[in-house]
Amino acid sequence: MARTCLAIVLAAGEGTRMRSARPKVLHAIAGRSLLAHVLRAVADSGVTATAVVVGPNDTAVAAEARRMSPDAECFLQQERRGTAHAVLAARRAIERHPDDILIVYGDTPLIRPASLLQLRSAIADGAAVAVLGFRATDPAGYGRLILEGNELIAIREAADANASERAAALCNGGIMAMAGKTALAILERIGDRNRKHEFYLTDAIEIARGMKLRAAAVEVEEDDMRGINTKKQLAEAETAAQQRLRQAALEAGVTLVAPETVHLCADTKFGRDVVIEPYVVFGEKVTVEDGAVIHSFSHIAGAHVGKGVSVGPFARLRPGTRLGEGARIGNFVEVKEAVVEAGAKANHLSYIGDALVGANANVGAGTITCNYDGIAKHRTEIGKDTFIGSNSALVAPVRIGDGAYIGSGSVITQNVPADALALGRSRQTNKEGWATRLRGLKMLGKKKPHSRD
Ligand code: UD1
Ligand code: CA
Repeated sequence: MARTCLAIVLAAGEGTRMRSARPKVLHAIAGRSLLAHVLRAVADSGVTATAVVVGPNDTAVAAEARRMSPDAECFLQQERRGTAHAVLAARRAIERHPDDILIVYGDTPLIRPASLLQLRSAIADGAAVAVLGFRATDPAGYGRLILEGNELIAIREAADANASERAAALCNGGIMAMAGKTALAILERIGDRNRKHEFYLTDAIEIARGMKLRAAAVEVEEDDMRGINTKKQLAEAETAAQQRLRQAALEAGVTLVAPETVHLCADTKFGRDVVIEPYVVFGEKVTVEDGAVIHSFSHIAGAHVGKGVSVGPFARLRPGTRLGEGARIGNFVEVKEAVVEAGAKANHLSYIGDALVGANANVGAGTITCNYDGIAKHRTEIGKDTFIGSNSALVAPVRIGDGAYIGSGSVITQNVPADALALGRSRQTNKEGWATRLRGLKMLGKKKPHSRD
């Protein structure tokens, strides 16, 4: 039978070094919060339960945890008394005796499921505690793994380490796994007799060994272990995350004309033969199907782009957008909460919000769905095979029947029957010779004639 696993995500840190009113783990890279990245990695490593430890007044952190993992249980760490103290905030979950316990920091967003699975297999192989180690380019501030052969003897915090311990090659990434059956006994023995009077999770190694239990170290690449404490580290992690995502997209066969200019989100999904031109930004929840082309300077979030669709240049697709096969959304067109069916086109300068655009409709330049009356949002339905003349305002709620034709410059406030022509504008009048008279008066230094004249 598969082993059960509890993941405990520590997210009660204050993050003072971010110099921000926002809790540290809610800062984002690759379009989603640090916490969301960690919860995703945890979910992908086969956990059966997730606990998130939050600090007092961290309702936003708890809300984000529930958004990403609706089954996650949040535990409150009332006082910030160290990493082991934080883990014990989730005592009730530990007491359910999972086979494995993964302890992951909420500020380590680039951790990969594969690394977490390596830790779990060390526990399955009989270790009571296993930790992830890495070779740091700059080891300042990290605890050091003290090894004897393959055995992990201790983790020494940099501040408490002597020179030879500090020179130890592997740094502590902070991510740890424990065997469920001995975890509580080990955690309860951790004390706070150190310089900061904190309960250090890292003491678990020596305690386990004192109990004749085994501890193991697993080496992973540095990127996995990037801990975020400052805005600079946040930016560096963003760069690393984007590199990984672009690499994966290229490997999956997406054409990125200038990869370094395309900004992806951790959950962006591409079909086959998709082309992304330079300078395109993807937010959360975007799917792009086979053969679609995203032209330069487009911004896309929460949108489904169907087969063979063409988007941009300079298009903005907002959440709730669904573009059917072969649809075309051209320059300076914004689409929000709208379905654009197969073959429909809005090629220039439009706003399509809270709308349905039927198959093969042609939405002319400058068409606006007036979806908001200052109080509430209303829907616009544009039928199949319709022709919306340029610069029309469709005042919602309104329905344009299939095959109807809207004259340019119309303000449409009433439903239009199928196959009808609607002209929603004042009639044009021509005044013969009026301009000639104007120019004559100007030369004499007189006033402009009234248009009634
Ligand atoms: C910790 C490790 C160190 C390791 C480093 C890797 C310990 C004692 N030290 O140090 O060996 O090299 O991470 O990044 O574990 N947290 C709480 N409640 C607390 C204290 C911390 O939830 O009371 C959370 C923080 O939000 C953070 C994580 O635990 O996500 C780590 O805490 P932090 O203070 O950043 O530990 P480091 O000093 O970086
Ligand atoms: Ca840290």
